[in-house]
Amino acid sequence: MQTLIEKITPESLEKAKRIILDNGVIGMPTETVYGLAGNGFSAESVKKIYQVKGRPSDNPLICHVHSGYDLNSLVYIEHDYVYDLMKKFMPGPLTLVFRSKGVIVKEATCGGDTLAIRMPSHEGCQRFLESVNLPIVAPSANLSKHTSPVKAEHVYQDLNGKIPLILDGGKCSGGIESTVLDVTGEIPRILRAGLVTQEMIVAVVGGCEIAEHKETDKVRSPGVKYSHYKPRCETKLFSVSQIDQAKKFYLESEETGKKAYVMCSNAVAKEFGAFNVLNLGDTEEEIAFNLYDKLLEGEKKADVIIAISMPDEKGVNMGIMNRLTKSCG
Ligand code: TXA
Ligand code: MG
Repeated sequence: MQTLIEKITPESLEKAKRIILDNGVIGMPTETVYGLAGNGFSAESVKKIYQVKGRPSDNPLICHVHSGYDLNSLVYIEHDYVYDLMKKFMPGPLTLVFRSKGVIVKEATCGGDTLAIRMPSHEGCQRFLESVNLPIVAPSANLSKHTSPVKAEHVYQDLNGKIPLILDGGKCSGGIESTVLDVTGEIPRILRAGLVTQEMIVAVVGGCEIAEHKETDKVRSPGVKYSHYKPRCETKLFSVSQIDQAKKFYLESEETGKKAYVMCSNAVAKEFGAFNVLNLGDTEEEIAFNLYDKLLEGEKKADVIIAISMPDEKGVNMGIMNRLTKSCG
């Protein structure tokens, strides 16, 4: 199969719609990462998603809808605080996990009784979702375990020959996946950290827990147990207080003939002077924006990526550290 990359135009949107209505799957931009999109009402489409990605069959998919879509047709909204969250953060990088009405095919939710819903704010993605006017289920558009794609070319590198079309919406402005928030309880609970932070949710709702992902949890995010986000090279993670150990490891790697790159914030990069550096930038938002792009650049250039942790796990750093620990730890 030939894989086309096309900018978002009325013609490419029409082509995308035809593929989706024909039970196919496409690459779709969002403001977080690219998604591998299929029709949530089609078991055939959903099976293709799992097949193309090599995704474990017990890991459910997020359902994406345009901002005018009636969520009541898909799920039960059980708590009033949800309306405040929706008003403040949707469309945007927040996924809400509700009790499902069971209208999406069971393959997408792995037979579970909850459904995760997200309204992407990416303008091209909204146009695509409006044009199909269907609930579009989509995981990130990478091969299972690999680093998530933030450019159309990243999707192409993983899925070339496996899907007919990638809609090119430019580099994702967010850079890490949406915050996944369980809203089935009295207090919302973060299942996966992201750009909508615990602090931001508390400011709207008054409270917000962080899931510990225990076997006994009622609603869990099955995805968190899998190995994730790995670039295709060796990696090692050091904390900011271990700069000397990181330098030593870098030099030892070079002595054994390996090409080493340090991946760190701009502030930390100054400590590494003339070393090879993958610079993630200054602010948390910039670092999230660059993280996967630099990991994917790094796997091409380096034999080993030596990542340096963020100084804390507050705000967006919680999501960054979650991805960094999984990709490089
Ligand atoms: O930003 C994003 O969320 C991107 C873009 C494409 O929208 N999507 C994404 O999908 O990251 P994926 O499949 O790579 O990750 C979805 C996460 C997984 O950890 C999965 O276990 C969790 O969401 N999830 C999906 N449905 C769930 C549900 N009903 N209950 C709990 N967790 C769920
Ligand atoms: Mg993913």
